[in-house]
Amino acid sequence: MLNFTRTRTQPRANRSMSLGGMDYVDPKKKSNVCGRILMVSTLTALCILMLKQSPNFNTPSQFSSHEEGVTHVLVTGGAGYIGSHAALRLLKDSYRVTIVDNLSRGNLGAINVLQQLFPEPGRLQFIHADLGDAKAVNKIFSENAFDAVMHFAAVAYVGESTLDPLKYYHNITSNTLVVLEAMSAHGVKTLIYSSTCATYGEPDKMPITEKTPQVPINPYGKAKKMAEDIILDFHKNSDMAVMILRYFNVIGSDPDGRLGEAPRPELREHGRISGACFDAASGIIPDLKVRGTDYNTPDGTCIRDYIDVTDLVDAHVKALEKAKIGHVGIYNVGTGRGRSVKEFVEACKEATGVSIKVDFLPRRPGDYAEVYSNPTKINSELNWTAKYTNLQQSLQIAWRWQKAHLNGYGGAPLVMSA
Ligand SMILES: NC(=O)c1ccc[n+]([C@@H]2O[C@H](COP(=O)([O-])OP(=O)(O)OC[C@H]3O[C@@H](n4cnc5c(N)ncnc54)[C@H](O)[C@@H]3O)[C@@H](O)[C@H]2O)c1
Repeated sequence: MLNFTRTRTQPRANRSMSLGGMDYVDPKKKSNVCGRILMVSTLTALCILMLKQSPNFNTPSQFSSHEEGVTHVLVTGGAGYIGSHAALRLLKDSYRVTIVDNLSRGNLGAINVLQQLFPEPGRLQFIHADLGDAKAVNKIFSENAFDAVMHFAAVAYVGESTLDPLKYYHNITSNTLVVLEAMSAHGVKTLIYSSTCATYGEPDKMPITEKTPQVPINPYGKAKKMAEDIILDFHKNSDMAVMILRYFNVIGSDPDGRLGEAPRPELREHGRISGACFDAASGIIPDLKVRGTDYNTPDGTCIRDYIDVTDLVDAHVKALEKAKIGHVGIYNVGTGRGRSVKEFVEACKEATGVSIKVDFLPRRPGDYAEVYSNPTKINSELNWTAKYTNLQQSLQIAWRWQKAHLNGYGGAPLVMSA
């Protein structure tokens, strides 16, 4: 066997010079080395002393052990739009929150807002990590005592999923498997999973109930459906409490103006209708492109069910409260009312006070005419009803934040006006 180990015959500090065949140790160097050793030892001793005097020395983090009466929730994707609003609500309701996010699409600014609102020890911690890294995820679970997981983290644009499907299967399906395995290995028994109406595809019958067959038609919807299937299969032989929430189209922002929706500028082209309306209203884009005016709907434009983020996070808290060990709950989260794109644009014009220029274009492939929910099940089983159902009001709240944060969380907030 080859031996690659290099041995040093003399330690560096004791190396001597050879003078005319005689070994000679420079006394100046020797005293230098001694001085350095003394300095390092003194500094080390000082550091240990200071650490011992610090209040956190030897005190385990409050996040690392279970505490009676405190529910510790891991919020994945908590730097993103919906996750940050959910974290805010959980913190307001006295939950302990750990956010894990890789900041690929979320905003550190949102975390800063939450940390400023809840600075007390043991309330909120942020861990920068990628859920695709199973080793890192496992470490997070071994160092923290979670009682429940709200799994929001995902890439979430239908258009992008058709262009880069592998990213979607990896980020959504495979990462959900990583989270589930960590939950199972560390005995975390409650999962609230963010799913989507895109798992239903284009059903023949409206409104959509939880029994409507799931036939997703794009990689985003398929990846979420696969993640749901994995969760449900795992659940068959476990005592986990699982709540799967299938959201419709999410709009709005925190009514108190602390958080908002701030997607990366490069994702604008895949963006959602509210973002496009606001971009048109603030002049970032010259006009709003509406694709398809010949659908079989009363005004020819697509119909969607818009759910306000405040109502959505309320559904999560209710789901968490009602989650039962060994049970699965699957719920649509929508208002039960469909609005056309034309109606939406009119509401957006009213909310922003800007006469947005609209460019009507031919249909975009893959868009379906009409999608709206039947929320009866969530109404009766979780006692949840959408309260923010005035489209114009939801958009007005969101617009206030957008106007005050033209650079998203990047710039200093401007003065807010009503
Ligand atoms: N916005 C909607 O209309 C809508 C509708 C239905 C379902 N959903 C679902 O809601 C969830 C949240 O969506 P959103 O609109 O808040 O999106 P978002 O992009 O604002 O937030 C997603 C967050 O997840 C983080 N993330 C992504 N991949 C990650 C990874 N590998 N590791 C760690 N963090 C990662 C991102 O950085 C981001 O902060 C998603 O699961 C999405 O599929 C959203």
